[in-house]
Amino acid sequence: MAAKEVLIWPDANLSKTSIAIEVIDESVHALVADLIATMEYEGSSAGLAAPQIGIHKRLFIVDIPPQDNNGNGTNGPEAFINPEFILKEGRLHWEEGCMSIPHERGWVTRSSRVIMRYLDLNGVQQEREAFDYLAGCFQHEADHLDGKLWVDYQSPLKRNLVRKKMLKLKK
Ligand code: NI
Repeated sequence: MAAKEVLIWPDANLSKTSIAIEVIDESVHALVADLIATMEYEGSSAGLAAPQIGIHKRLFIVDIPPQDNNGNGTNGPEAFINPEFILKEGRLHWEEGCMSIPHERGWVTRSSRVIMRYLDLNGVQQEREAFDYLAGCFQHEADHLDGKLWVDYQSPLKRNLVRKKMLKLKK
């Protein structure tokens, strides 16, 4: 288990669609360990998706203490495999950040309540209801698996501005 380099937008790898995980083997467990190590090394983030470290598999981790979201959180860092939303309702308009877009934030409209179906690390299908912060986080991370980031919801002007800042950061 090792902290990996987090890709910075507009790295083209962040815009690719990830592939469903068919078998939960050692490599998937190792990937989860790497994602957790990376998130802990970088600090401050609530979630990280596999494509952010260059692995195009449909998997992300989220770590939101329940006390940070009115009792609705995760049990430490949890892995969510092949997630899909079977319910989305309500409106959450909030400002998002992303480890792949350091120091920047942007307003995004999400659903305020979701039910997400996914596989856990034992390959068991689960359904998780989430609201507010946790729901928004699930949607942000799931977007990564479709090659989408919060900048994709911004005006061309804002997107360009952020793009310039990121390119400067990468130099
Ligand atoms: Ni992100």
